[in-house]
Amino acid sequence: MRADRFTGKTVCITGGAQGMGRQAALDMAAEGAAVAVTDIDDQALEDIKGEFDEMGAASLVLHCDVSKCSEVEAAVARIADQFGSLDILINNAGLLKSFTIEETTNELIDRTIDINIKGVLYAVRAVTPIMKKQNYGRIVNISSIAGKNGDNTTSFVYGASKGAVITITRSTARQLGPFGITCNAIAPHAVMTKMMEYWDDDKKQAMADKIPLKRLGTVEDMSNLMMFLASDESSFITGEVININGGYYMD
Ligand SMILES: NC(=O)c1ccc[n+]([C@@H]2O[C@H](COP(=O)([O-])OP(=O)(O)OC[C@H]3O[C@@H](n4cnc5c(N)ncnc54)[C@H](O)[C@@H]3O)[C@@H](O)[C@H]2O)c1
Repeated sequence: MRADRFTGKTVCITGGAQGMGRQAALDMAAEGAAVAVTDIDDQALEDIKGEFDEMGAASLVLHCDVSKCSEVEAAVARIADQFGSLDILINNAGLLKSFTIEETTNELIDRTIDINIKGVLYAVRAVTPIMKKQNYGRIVNISSIAGKNGDNTTSFVYGASKGAVITITRSTARQLGPFGITCNAIAPHAVMTKMMEYWDDDKKQAMADKIPLKRLGTVEDMSNLMMFLASDESSFITGEVININGGYYMD
């Protein structure tokens, strides 16, 4: 196992049992982190636990629905208790549904806000006293191109929720900066995970053709940026929202 950027660090990745969060969890474990993964998919949690154990990594997997404040607070307390610190929080859990404006139900609006916005607020609030006490922390939020530029393939509440993640990132960066805590976000687009299974092959090809780098995103691309923002290599960067989309959208 490689052990460098994250040796001695504890990381919590929400929704980290699959997709880009899973990749970041495994990559950070390979670089020495003690990794706690929370998710609502118990089979995926069990699978990633097996991978951590094969690597010989210190790890913890917890069933935790980020939309439930009590579960988030209990998970954060358990992680800090087990590993003695909580240095890095990656707010990765998310819900995306593809519906038109007229099709978007009240239930979908509520569920998207509960997971994509409240889940981030609950987790940031729960880690704040721990990170303040440490005078150290790295928070990485997963926004989206839809939160910056709007989007016509996802429900409009998804873009709204990811826009909120950007303002949460900036407020957190301003308020926690004096305590040695950075907070940044990434704004991905077109990363081929389970969430994007609703794109058929024609849609994927059409999108790749429009991207200057002529390909779709990979979970490794996302993990590399999450790790940079979670590491001390980015210690003078805070409140930023970094596009990661092959040049499809620039601002
Ligand atoms: N894939 C993309 O193109 C893309 C683009 C922009 C932003 N994002 C964002 O990236 C993040 C990761 O998505 P992904 O593409 O890896 O998707 P994914 O579906 O592979 O992974 C999402 C994970 O979140 C978990 N999850 C869902 N609801 C949860 C809840 N209430 N509590 C805890 N965990 C929950 C799922 O079980 C799953 O393991 C999301 O926030 C998503 O909105 C993805």
